[in-house]
Amino acid sequence: MNQDKKNQFNRIKRLLKQESAVLIAHYYTSPDIQKLAEETQGFVSDSLEMARWGAAHDASTLIVAGVKFMGETAKILSPEKRVKIISTDATCSLDLGCPEKEFKDFCAQNEDRTVVVYANTSAQVKAQADWVVTSSCAVDIVDHLHMEGQSILWAPDKYLGQYVQSQTEADLLLWDGACIVHEEFKVAGLKSMKALFPHAAVLVHPESPGGVIALADRVGSTSQLISAAENMEQDTFIVATDVGIFYKMQQKIPGHKRLIEAPTAGKSATCKSCARCPWMAMNTLDQLEYALLHDEHDVYVEEQVCKQAIVSIDRMLHFTLKT
Ligand code: 13P
Ligand code: SF4
Repeated sequence: MNQDKKNQFNRIKRLLKQESAVLIAHYYTSPDIQKLAEETQGFVSDSLEMARWGAAHDASTLIVAGVKFMGETAKILSPEKRVKIISTDATCSLDLGCPEKEFKDFCAQNEDRTVVVYANTSAQVKAQADWVVTSSCAVDIVDHLHMEGQSILWAPDKYLGQYVQSQTEADLLLWDGACIVHEEFKVAGLKSMKALFPHAAVLVHPESPGGVIALADRVGSTSQLISAAENMEQDTFIVATDVGIFYKMQQKIPGHKRLIEAPTAGKSATCKSCARCPWMAMNTLDQLEYALLHDEHDVYVEEQVCKQAIVSIDRMLHFTLKT
């Protein structure tokens, strides 16, 4: 680390202390941000555990390094705390692709269905849902609802929805949304890579298209993929998810294991298709320092929306504690 970066790390550490703030980072943020969270007794995790950890921590300010929906979930669960997001522009294609009004109409047309939404949605969409799920618990929760005989309205990720459907055989009516990062993993490229590394295990995030999931040895949330790389016996892993995950995965696996990026449709340099979420990449050290010094990074969620959204989020948190 060069001296400038060391100085910036130290300034940010001082600011975190002054503000009684903790840094909660998603695995897709840069190695610098994840390292800072680790060095300041913050937390690096998947979206489910980020929500749980922030709510349980006694810091008066939570700094969320991730995207907008993660900041909103933190605020909904801890309305008494100050919650800041590193980049106010950092959103998610799933959130953008599921506007509140259209979603309301979709629900109104299908009133007989239980509404299950992925965490990657706005607070206003969560407020209309019966359940919120993340990729780490979606299959278990939908399976539970299916066993109770419920039909489900699912939004917004159609690929995750199709995967959940294949695992549970539940009746799911799907919204047509997708993650622009995972959608770029392609079957042909992955097959060619598997041919080059025939003994490698393929790890896939379930926001990927079905054909890619079909080639996986393990499908799971970011935390589940990290555990898979740690615990599976293979020593080479082809990883189909945002490359930010490599920082923590590399830390967790023994030295003889090797990680390879799954191929995407384009070349990294084009940025269209580089297995790098453009919104997660907005979580820079400069933005973090700025956010600590300015009020405009505070997350606000209307009281009424908070009151409604917390019901569906709490259901998920309670369900996942029991299982
Ligand atoms: P996880 O819940 O697996 O961390 O995923 C969040 C996300 O945005 C994946 O693209
Ligand atoms: Fe959204 Fe995809 Fe980025 Fe995750 S990786 S935040 S799902 S756009």
